[in-house]
Amino acid sequence: MFVDAGVVIGDWVKIQNNVSVYRGVNIEDEVFIGPSAVFTNDRFPRARTPSWEVMSTIVRRGTSIGANATVVCGVELGTWSTVGAGAVVTRSLAAHELVVGNPARRVGWVCRCGQVASRNPVPPPDLRCVTCRDLAP
Ligand SMILES: CC(C)(COP(=O)(O)OP(=O)(O)OC[C@H]1O[C@@H](n2cnc3c(N)ncnc32)[C@H](O)[C@@H]1OP(=O)(O)O)[C@@H](O)C(=O)NCCC(=O)NCCS
Ligand SMILES: [Zn+2]
Repeated sequence: MFVDAGVVIGDWVKIQNNVSVYRGVNIEDEVFIGPSAVFTNDRFPRARTPSWEVMSTIVRRGTSIGANATVVCGVELGTWSTVGAGAVVTRSLAAHELVVGNPARRVGWVCRCGQVASRNPVPPPDLRCVTCRDLAP
């Protein structure tokens, strides 16, 4: 695991092995980061640049990030969203959004409990999770 100086990590966060968290990344409470997930902080990297500024990324409370996922900087992952294993996230996620693939695309919605509550990319107006009966999103 590599956590850069200046990274902010909340309470009850679980970070698995071989994860890289660079400066500019803000991780709120109860976030899960699967093995070998990678964050970035430079959208247009060059080895030698006259000046570059860290681009920030915000991971909101309860988000889960699958193994081997890459999060391109400058995005916000909404509360309780989930990134599938191996995905490359290039844009911000709404709360409870589920994305997979490269580039990551919305395939549904996840409940706070972590289960897939809908496999319809269209936002559900009022969805109840079949697993925990909680209202989700
Ligand atoms: C994304 C995820 C939550 C979906 O779970 P699920 O809904 O049970 O998925 P299913 O197995 O029913 O698959 C549904 C479809 O999505 C596809 N799919 C599932 N996970 C995928 C992923 N990570 N990337 C791309 N496609 C994926 C399946 O191939 C399937 O496609 P099909 O309908 O064309 O056959 C899960 O697969 C995942 O990646 N979880 C993260 C696991 C992880 O990294 N944990 C880290 C700690 S060990
Ligand atoms: Zn649930």
